[in-house]
Amino acid sequence: MSIATSAPISIDRATCADLDAADPLASFRERFALPDGVVYLDGNSLGALPRATSAHVERVIAEEWGTGLIRSWNAAGWFEKPLVLGDRIAPLIGAGPGEVVLGDSTSASLFQVAMAAARLRPDRRVIVSERGNFPTDLYILESVQALAGAAEPLERRLVDDDGPGLDEVLGDDVAVVVLTHVNYRTGRMYDMAEVTRRVHEAGAIMVWDLCHSVGAVPVDLRAADADFAVGCTYKYLNGGPGSPSFMWVAERHHAEARPAITGWHGHATPFDFEVAYTPAAGVTRFRVGTPQLLSVAALEASLDLWAEVDLDLVREKSLRLTELFISLVDTRLAEWGVEVVTPRQSSQRGSQVALRVGDGYAVMQALIERGVIGDFRAPDLMRFGFAPLYVSHTDVWDAVDALADILATEAWREPRFARQGTVT
Ligand SMILES: Cc1ncc(COP(=O)(O)O)c(C=O)c1O
Repeated sequence: MSIATSAPISIDRATCADLDAADPLASFRERFALPDGVVYLDGNSLGALPRATSAHVERVIAEEWGTGLIRSWNAAGWFEKPLVLGDRIAPLIGAGPGEVVLGDSTSASLFQVAMAAARLRPDRRVIVSERGNFPTDLYILESVQALAGAAEPLERRLVDDDGPGLDEVLGDDVAVVVLTHVNYRTGRMYDMAEVTRRVHEAGAIMVWDLCHSVGAVPVDLRAADADFAVGCTYKYLNGGPGSPSFMWVAERHHAEARPAITGWHGHATPFDFEVAYTPAAGVTRFRVGTPQLLSVAALEASLDLWAEVDLDLVREKSLRLTELFISLVDTRLAEWGVEVVTPRQSSQRGSQVALRVGDGYAVMQALIERGVIGDFRAPDLMRFGFAPLYVSHTDVWDAVDALADILATEAWREPRFARQGTVT
């Protein structure tokens, strides 16, 4: 059963239940410890907890830390974990073995690779990104601009949905282009291969941020011929709050690329304790210091689950869910002026949908109180993420149903829904 986005269709909850019954990924939902009565549409911000994670982390704490103590660096393979888990993320992003390594936060990892990228084009003076990029990317690039230019800071140019496009900002002075594949607010997805081709044509280095792509859409970095990538593991990969980011470096750059932060875990011979830094071979040199091994353990458990997942099925279901959501919003919420901001063309859409609604913050708080959890991004977007491993078609129906009721009854007008928390 397919759902066309262009023409609004008539669909009811029973049809959604039929779609769930035919869903080849349906059994994965049981593998997550989701609370009863919750429709979780925020897996694009913090992924749900896999049931196996707690026992695995407890075992690592009790056996590897408690009993193994310092011996676990060798006996439990702690030292190699960032590379071993990197190899397990690789198939999810079209990377090869030895090309991916875990890092600290995504922000730190972006600094690590963007500096390396800029140094590969020392004669060029411009870094390109996007005005609508996740702000940390732009903040980190300010530091790269300041530090990578030998005598004076590099210049910044930004593409913008309402301003200059890529072709207008690319030129033979551009060193690096840093873009997020799926936009954090709108869910719009770039054509990775096509953008990378244009960036290479201009002689620049392409860095992709995959935070909203990994585990949400199939990614093929090698086929796209990209240069560097970073991404986080706490969203669609379910690694848990604060789980480590990852970095990918194309093999052709392994010999030459120089990371920004040259820590001892990236040294060629860390246990020789030499006075001078000698980079390790390959992506290992992008490591910095001691990894957060308890977070790494949580990620390890979720990657066990991800090893069973067919990403083509994930994409098919993701499109079914987002198309269903958009159709239901069109048919049931139009009278309140709710606007779908996410592209309707499926090739340009990740696994999330953003709605523009007046007083969207309060509307989202009212929705969360009813157990439908999404989030809000200032100034006016309600975001809904559809993680195909645990979101069902009936969840989508129930979410729109609750939203329709909140808008019809104006339940969101209660003053407590307007009070802002630190995190929106
Ligand atoms: C596209 C993008 N990049 C980077 C980040 C920031 O990641 P971190 O907090 O791990 O540095 C986020 C966070 O949501 C994001 O959406």
